[in-house]
Amino acid sequence: MTLFMSDNVTCACSEVMDAVVAANSGTAASYGDDGWSADLQKKLSEMFERDVIAFPVVTGTASNALALSVLTPSFGKVFCHELAHINTDECGAPEFFTGGAKLIPMQGENGKITADTLASTIRGTGNVHLAQPAAVSITQACEAGGVYELDEISSIAKVARDNGLNVHMDGARFANALVSLDVSPAQMTWKSGVDVLSFGGTKNGCLAAEVVVFFKPELVGDFPFLHKRAGQLLSKMRFISSQLIAYLSDDLWLRNARHSNAMAKRLSTGLAEISGIELAYPNQSNEVFVHLSQEIVNGLGEDGYEVNEDELDGSAARFVTAWDTKPDDIDALITAVRKHSS
Ligand SMILES: Cc1ncc(COP(=O)(O)O)c(C=O)c1O
Repeated sequence: MTLFMSDNVTCACSEVMDAVVAANSGTAASYGDDGWSADLQKKLSEMFERDVIAFPVVTGTASNALALSVLTPSFGKVFCHELAHINTDECGAPEFFTGGAKLIPMQGENGKITADTLASTIRGTGNVHLAQPAAVSITQACEAGGVYELDEISSIAKVARDNGLNVHMDGARFANALVSLDVSPAQMTWKSGVDVLSFGGTKNGCLAAEVVVFFKPELVGDFPFLHKRAGQLLSKMRFISSQLIAYLSDDLWLRNARHSNAMAKRLSTGLAEISGIELAYPNQSNEVFVHLSQEIVNGLGEDGYEVNEDELDGSAARFVTAWDTKPDDIDALITAVRKHSS
């Protein structure tokens, strides 16, 4: 049973599928010159309350690695949390796409870095013997299931700015963080100092759609060429852009994320009420990390649950909810944990 293994195990939602089917008619200009892709630019600009430049891609890894490739020189340093997906789960793609930039993993409570840690880790600017501080990347919502508050993002961005670093946000779960904070997309990004966002759609209801969003035109640089060279300039881009348009229409992305977060809250609350069960991190989005004894993990396995114990540092089990998670499935999982813990 792959239920709760990840938000990648879900299917795409019907509004997105309908949009792809609707786009599947007649001819359209290729390589992003189609009407859907133009509309997507407009929609994102409206949503972020400023003109943005956006490049659709089909994986979060491509989105992160390509974004970073224009934010650092090949001899640069990219600061991130040690548990950041770019550091742990992208098979060296950020290093490869940047031409060899160095990721500098930092520690921090609950999967988040702080402005102070960043400030004390930055060193070597101008020293030819050291890779050069170039960018910082934060994940929103972060890999441990928490979210950065707006003042935390702004303080990190201020340190970045003071030291000449660009600011990247991995927003694979952007919608989950946004509804958790109940702020606007502009507030959570450029108004707090984010320069480039990897905006995710796949985990929250798209078929395969992510988009790199630039808030500053001057940072785009060679991105169009890197996008093509990375094989992410899809010839039939209409099928990616149409997914994202549907995703952003009628608040679908926000509704999906609200549901997903509510299911995670139901799960984290239910688990925390079981005596002896301890959450590993505060739950603020759609990922719940919990310390489970081997007996409970084995018992859940016998009940048919595949328990994901491999995420982050492997110290807790991870349960992820999604846009289509059913309350009954949450309640059944809580009941199973309670049964095996007594
Ligand atoms: C925080 C975060 N960033 C990026 C990604 C990358 O997505 P993909 O698997 O599409 O490359 C993931 C996927 O799990 C993720 O959790």
